[in-house]
Amino acid sequence: MIGYIQKVLVDTIRAEGGDEALATICQRAGVEGVPDFRIDQDYPDDECLRMIAETGAYFGLDEDSLFRLYADRFIRESRGRFPMFYQMANSARDFLERQPRVHTVLAAGLRGEESRDRVRDKFDIERDGDDLMVTYRSPNRLCGLYEALFDRVLEEFGDTGSMEILACQKRGDDACRFCLKLGAAGDE
Ligand code: HEM
Repeated sequence: MIGYIQKVLVDTIRAEGGDEALATICQRAGVEGVPDFRIDQDYPDDECLRMIAETGAYFGLDEDSLFRLYADRFIRESRGRFPMFYQMANSARDFLERQPRVHTVLAAGLRGEESRDRVRDKFDIERDGDDLMVTYRSPNRLCGLYEALFDRVLEEFGDTGSMEILACQKRGDDACRFCLKLGAAGDE
């Protein structure tokens, strides 16, 4: 996993519980020290998933609450660090449609074709009339994170929308499929 995900997690932990929480969570997750996660480097997925799980356990948050807390910081921090991705989008629909490409752009900085392909292959998005059909296929099964970010993106752009889950890896499907219905605020 590209270190940006872990970097935002570290910032979230620090903001909620300070350095003590961070040291404890890293130790429980079996992560040595507190790494300075870099956004141009790939880190082991299992380490990242353990950090997410231990963060939820430490703060007593279920997965949904943790992802919502994380998503809020993720959107605020990513707007600061990558303003052009936001400036390019006029609406939540625009932004969500570009999300797989944003990931591919960030993966372009990684060393190793395998890592770049792995990031690119996780998401696919296509238009179906007014809807956006998303396919998400990843052993990390972070569809809960997708949903939390989807909702936070709507809020960020002041738009309305809903997300229907047509298939889910957590239910045994080979990939998650989401149907995104999006409108501008005031449409409904
Ligand atoms: C400027 C905005 C964004 C940035 C900078 C960003 C960046 C990243 C990066 C660097 C990763 C790690 C990729 C990897 O190693 O495979 C990632 C993963 C992920 N992102 Fe984004 N992202 C953005 C927007 C979004 C949005 C809007 C969504 C959903 C609506 C989203 C959903 C996810 C999910 C679910 C993963 C986990 C993928 C997996 O490993 O299974 N991202 N993002």
